[in-house]
Amino acid sequence: MNLHQKSMLKAGSLSNKVIWVTGGGTGLGKSMVKSFVELGAQVAISGRRIDKLIETQQEISKDHILPVVCDVRESGQVESSLNQIVDHFGRCNGLVNNAAGNFISPTERLSHRAFDIILDIVLKGSKNCTLSCGKYWINNQIPGHVLNIVTTYASTGSGFVVPSAMAKAGVLAMTRSLAVEWAKYGQRHNAIAPGPFPTKGAWDRLFPKEMSDKINLESRIPLKRMGEHQELANLASYLMSDYSAYVNGEVITIDGGEWLQGAGQFNQMDAISSEEWDMLEKVIRSNQKKS
Ligand code: HXC
Ligand code: NAP
Repeated sequence: MNLHQKSMLKAGSLSNKVIWVTGGGTGLGKSMVKSFVELGAQVAISGRRIDKLIETQQEISKDHILPVVCDVRESGQVESSLNQIVDHFGRCNGLVNNAAGNFISPTERLSHRAFDIILDIVLKGSKNCTLSCGKYWINNQIPGHVLNIVTTYASTGSGFVVPSAMAKAGVLAMTRSLAVEWAKYGQRHNAIAPGPFPTKGAWDRLFPKEMSDKINLESRIPLKRMGEHQELANLASYLMSDYSAYVNGEVITIDGGEWLQGAGQFNQMDAISSEEWDMLEKVIRSNQKKS
């Protein structure tokens, strides 16, 4: 096992934390939950499907995990979920806005409803949870932490996932805004922008097998591999722990250099062979002498 596949923080690093992870029953949410519990946190996991939540609770820890059915689009459900978490654990001092919806589609094929369904889960859902937790923390003088799981295209934009790009950009703006406004209450707001980390939820909707011959994900990542869940879980655990007490308003990209691959004019030049470089160097040196 390589170091990046192991837990990074020492046991007990999250022992004073009660963390609510939305979408914590599946995928990356579930991997973060596992890491948080291993490090001593009590964790509430929410989603719309109770079976998935129970399955995750049974698999990781019956004692340290509370499953809560909650559609993040509904502010009433978000409020009552927070009450349930506080009743059960005595408090809540961390929130991970991880729940999301997404699918690829040319934008001109989207109906208004299709657009709204993604905006509502990602932007409105993250706002609902952040506002409820933020006010509860202010009223109870709790120095809470919010971690928002965004994407690299929250900053760059991306075709074919435009509702998701718009919603994640909004979540990133919320992260940076509240990091400043609510710092006076002791709150921290940060974000992680992951590149591709295989999960069933994302792959079924974004990279179905039927198009895998058209898009080779690894080849466009400078490190030539996708992310491993433990790597993201380590970063999330660090950001939810007090080790990161001075990190506020930051978005940390974890993508093997993927988003930068398309930047600049010259990153495609890996395709040029050593012999071609010999020839090119000669041509360029000779051009330099003439100019
Ligand atoms: C065009 C579509 C569509 C598609 C649905 N619609 N699928 N339009 N192309 N593929 C339209 C419908 O016709 C309808 O509009 C509207 O969207 C709502 O449809 P529903 O049937 O109500 O939605 P449903 O398909 O049940 O749900 C969509 C969803 C669902 C909400 C996105 O799949 C979901 O709950 N997903 C949660 C999990 C998830 O998405 N995980 C991936 C996160 S990955 P009309 O007008 O016909 O009524 C991620 C990673 C990004 O974010 C970065 C990776 C590198
Ligand atoms: P996933 O397994 O499909 O996770 C999405 C979760 O959100 C599910 O547990 C789902 O549970 C929950 N959810 C969806 N709609 C909800 C709603 N209305 N209310 C409450 N919960 C809802 O996908 P994932 O890949 O792990 O994604 C997790 C996060 O990472 C997302 O924010 C995603 O944008 C981000 N991300 C992922 C990747 C990647 O490569 N995987 C890359 C960049 C960013 P229910 O369906 O039971 O409600």
